[in-house]
Amino acid sequence: MDEKPLNKGNPDEMPKRIHIKTYGCQMNVYDSERIFDTMGTLGYKETEEMIDADLIVLNTCHIREKAVEKVYSDLGRIRKLKAKRTRDGKKTIVAVAGCVAQAEGAEIQRRAPIVDIVVGPQSFQNLTHLVFRAQQEGTHIIDTNFPSDGKFANLPAKRNPKSCTAFLTIQEGCDKFCTFCVVPYTRGAEFSRPVERIESEVRQLAEAGVREITLLGQNVNAYHGEGRDGAPWSLGRLIDAVSEIEGLERIRYTTSHPRDMDDELIAVHRDNSKLMPYLHLPVQSGSDRILEAMNRKHSAAEYHRVIERIRRARPDIALSSDFIVGFPGETDADFEATMALVRAVEYAQAYSFKYSPRPGTPAADRDDQVAEEVKAERLRSLQELLNEQQAAFNRACVGRRMKVLFDRSGRKPGQLVGRSPFLQAVHVDAPEHHFGALAAIEITQAGPNSLSGKLAQDAGYTLESRDRVQHEELTH
Ligand code: SAH
Ligand code: SF4
Ligand code: F3S
Repeated sequence: MDEKPLNKGNPDEMPKRIHIKTYGCQMNVYDSERIFDTMGTLGYKETEEMIDADLIVLNTCHIREKAVEKVYSDLGRIRKLKAKRTRDGKKTIVAVAGCVAQAEGAEIQRRAPIVDIVVGPQSFQNLTHLVFRAQQEGTHIIDTNFPSDGKFANLPAKRNPKSCTAFLTIQEGCDKFCTFCVVPYTRGAEFSRPVERIESEVRQLAEAGVREITLLGQNVNAYHGEGRDGAPWSLGRLIDAVSEIEGLERIRYTTSHPRDMDDELIAVHRDNSKLMPYLHLPVQSGSDRILEAMNRKHSAAEYHRVIERIRRARPDIALSSDFIVGFPGETDADFEATMALVRAVEYAQAYSFKYSPRPGTPAADRDDQVAEEVKAERLRSLQELLNEQQAAFNRACVGRRMKVLFDRSGRKPGQLVGRSPFLQAVHVDAPEHHFGALAAIEITQAGPNSLSGKLAQDAGYTLESRDRVQHEELTH
């Protein structure tokens, strides 16, 4: 225990404890931190153990069926845990937050009556009130509103970063309505935060020791928040502005849509050395027929052209993507087109999923669903190819020198783990004082998912300080 109870004799006056379990994407990781901050204003302290928590929050994901089933199986476990705490005379409030809360609302409490609060991803800033009401009224409470002023306006200003790297949501929601995807329904319409609010959050994080920031949005490169001059600013312009903030050394952003990769952003990849040479640009499929049915609004050829423009601006960029196999109507030839696209692009890493029909989305109603065994076989082949490409990308790093930001301790004593500019995990034997800082590392070994290296003896040439690529005309 890191702090003394206020009053040993009276449990009501002990600091309350909160445990948050986070599922899904980085935006949920950001939201979970903000939930901690929000409940911190009432004196709640974090606990690693669910059994010690007075407030359990599940910050959930609705993207695929498996993600949702995980939440219900965890709720089964929590039911027993809550019963045990009740027997011990302790009250437990259970809150389901995030995208399952938004999508399923009262259905959650029907399936799992132990859930006291259901709170959507745009309304968790109200959690202090909701917890208070749950304590007083003891009834089921639901808040899945989309407030007109946005949740960010009502979140506490202060953030308590836990690491030298941090996520920061700059854009929420999605207006694109891909036919397989729940995000436009769970997160609502696209909304960009104003530049000044983002800058002040980054400034505060940098002062607290954060060296790397990842700007987040479901469609982050569609960012068009109000700038300092009152006009909408693009993501490229925002990145340039944020890169001026003292103490901040690295910037990343995710997730981008191929249609929104504008010249300004590509030029920032060329010109701004704080922007890391890594781009997650989901394509989903290599077949134009499937891309059309997915409502992605771009062809495979257009995707290749975007990749060409980026590589011309930043030849060493590491590329990543998301893929869905077995979308309704996908034939062997469509799947082959995806494999061909992957072979042509050569990814540094990627995520791939079997299509999961989601209630309320157009693709779920199609009667040409692909058989489970076919999906499994296609996923296996695709992952084999992607893993080979990732291993090749990692192998090509051996012998190179690059800067690594150490953000974790390694499993072995005396070892630190950090991230390369290309987002690979790098294991290095290094003294503790390197923790939370950048160091020049010589890469000595590559594994399928990570690299090993040693501290470089001299400060010489590193990838991040190398002469920038000569300016070339960017073309469409
Ligand atoms: N906004 C991002 C990604 C959002 S969801 C984008 O536009 O790319 C993250 C990934 O989950 C998607 O890229 C997609 O590959 C996958 N995904 C979304 N819905 C899915 C579904 N119904 N079945 C399987 N995978 C899905
Ligand atoms: Fe979902 Fe498509 Fe929006 Fe991405 S762009 S969040 S896949 S609807
Ligand atoms: Fe999942 Fe919601 Fe993120 S559905 S992927 S947690 S936006």
